[in-house]
Amino acid sequence: MKPAVLVARNVFPEAVARLREHFEVTTNEADTLWPQPELIRQLQGKAGLFITGSEKIDGVLLDACPNLRAVCSMAVGYNNVDVPACTAHGVVVSNAPDVLTETTADFGFALMMAAARRVTESEHFLRRGEWTKWSFDMFAGSDVHGATMGVLGMGRIGQAIARRGALGFGMKVIYHNRSRLNEADEATIGARYVDKATLLKEADHLVIVVPYSAASHHLIGAAELAMMKPTATLTNIARGGVVDDAALAEALRHHVIASAGLDVFEGEPSVNPALLTVPNIVLTPHIASSSLPTRRAMASLAVDNLMAALGVGPNAGKPPTALNPEVLSK
Ligand code: DGY
Repeated sequence: MKPAVLVARNVFPEAVARLREHFEVTTNEADTLWPQPELIRQLQGKAGLFITGSEKIDGVLLDACPNLRAVCSMAVGYNNVDVPACTAHGVVVSNAPDVLTETTADFGFALMMAAARRVTESEHFLRRGEWTKWSFDMFAGSDVHGATMGVLGMGRIGQAIARRGALGFGMKVIYHNRSRLNEADEATIGARYVDKATLLKEADHLVIVVPYSAASHHLIGAAELAMMKPTATLTNIARGGVVDDAALAEALRHHVIASAGLDVFEGEPSVNPALLTVPNIVLTPHIASSSLPTRRAMASLAVDNLMAALGVGPNAGKPPTALNPEVLSK
């Protein structure tokens, strides 16, 4: 009998078809995010689970699903999964790094540019029929070329955004991260390591790309925003919760900083209503990785991992991007 797996959300049919070659597959036709009790109910008797970045996988779920052996996500961020608990339960976890790096960096750069040049704000003005004349400072924003980009979090996506800024737009790049890049990488990217306070004070355009964890919760709040230039922009493509959204809305309203671009929100898909009423912001619904080829590649990598973790296919026993491969070597 084929092992049973659960696909927690709608995904590309070809991804499901690949799984069906090896497993009894149950899908979530309604494509809603199941509350945990329902996810647990659906998981009974299943050996594998395909998830996105939203399903909460913790000790409660793992205790209730003793047959589970693999949890494979099509997202790179995995703050929704308690990896140590999975390891303790003998469950392999994988995420989907690399395949989305360049696409996500493209989008981060687009949000930063849109915030700097007030694209959303001016489009709303035009759509409201308020454009009746030329004026010398109409929606005058700030330049991106030649400005200082501050990158908070210098992992793969941070580096890809920094390269775009330095090589494509002649930006000066400064960054702050838990660990410093080696000198050669700093030189290739043209990035200078600074402490967090310097980053906030010197950046014309702050781009946030740190993973969410208890340590990065509200890494940017009212105090940090107050340290930034009044002409600065802030772009968050990391995770909701890294920025204090209420404090950001307040800072934008009072022009503590000039503008912001957000793709991620605390408590998403709900959005703090205060953010919806400030004009100087660009808001998108967590789509930074969403180009069709990249979303296909993310789903395909999750399938590769699930097959390998459950012992089938060319990588059997060696999931390409497992976060706790030690589970399989035990
Ligand atoms: C990720 O992969 O973590 C992105 O945020 C898309 O969900």
